[in-house]
Amino acid sequence: MDYQNDFELDYENRIVDTHEIPEDNLTMESDNPLRPKTLDDYIGQEKVKENLKVYIEAAMQRQESLDHVLLYGPPGLGKTTLSQIIANELGVNIRITSGPAIEKPGDLAAILTNLNEGDVLFIDEIHRLNRSVEEILYPAMEDYAIDIITGKGQMAASYHLPLPKFTLVGATTRAGQLTAPLRDRFGVTLRLELYSPEELSTIITRSAGILGIEIDSDGSLELASRSRGTPRIANRLLKRVRDFAQVLNDGYVNCEIARMALDKMEIDELGLDQNDRRMLEAMIKFYNGGPVGLETLAAAIGEEAVTIEDVYEPYLMQIGFLQRTPRGRCVTAEGYRHLGFEFGGTVNQPNLFQ
Ligand code: ADE
Repeated sequence: MDYQNDFELDYENRIVDTHEIPEDNLTMESDNPLRPKTLDDYIGQEKVKENLKVYIEAAMQRQESLDHVLLYGPPGLGKTTLSQIIANELGVNIRITSGPAIEKPGDLAAILTNLNEGDVLFIDEIHRLNRSVEEILYPAMEDYAIDIITGKGQMAASYHLPLPKFTLVGATTRAGQLTAPLRDRFGVTLRLELYSPEELSTIITRSAGILGIEIDSDGSLELASRSRGTPRIANRLLKRVRDFAQVLNDGYVNCEIARMALDKMEIDELGLDQNDRRMLEAMIKFYNGGPVGLETLAAAIGEEAVTIEDVYEPYLMQIGFLQRTPRGRCVTAEGYRHLGFEFGGTVNQPNLFQ
């Protein structure tokens, strides 16, 4: 069907993509100058910070390792950054890896046996660990030990290997994706929320200071309100807007330059790009605004269901353009209006920016 091609999302080239690209980290992870190093430097997520501060201080007072921490929330909100801050505040080393990178139980055993007492092990996308690896993690988390079996048949031998008392920090886009035995072994579970435009504006001003970019408060607020609640996007847009400012305005970012640059990048005043608009448009044109099932929608726009759920939906729901109902996804009257369509349905209206 021809129309499907029109609605295929160009996810790879999306400037508002929340996944990390090499440019986000100028050199190595830890060298990215935009990443805050302490909880005091970390802007927003006040509830998370407040609780973490207590847990870290208490563990340090008792001279114990911090209990295992699960961080969950949409991509780009600072889960890796927070894990580095946890290690920094505890004064320990951090080892960073991810679920898909640990292919075999032996890979995880090698990582675990190389940790020092109190170290932080950060596993990003922890819901993507394969089952045989995950099973090694259970006793490692609970008893700080692993059981390794070598050989086969009569030659088989089992070794009980004690591990240093480490802290596992796991990150996932949704806690519900984790198996129950893994989820139950985290002592602390923290949910990161999308940032408000004011918080993002503070982050942008901080980043601009670090990168030597001149920006006024209207300029940073304009950028902030188009960054989908996500610092990673805000920092990326700041770098692109700087290019426009450098060529057209002596490097100075004000509201006008920010607006012009973002319009040129086809990011609208609420931060929606062509992909968001195409998804909503497809829902309106082909499914009468919904309800439409996730898988049906995914097939119609040529996108993976998990990407729709983790990347597109959180922000569209936050701004009240999309609702998840038991019968499927629906575009709200606000969503219709934003895209210039007339709304004839009966979807319940959440408040915009509630
Ligand atoms: N850069 C990315 N996320 C940040 C945050 N939450 N605070 C400060 N700087 C950041």
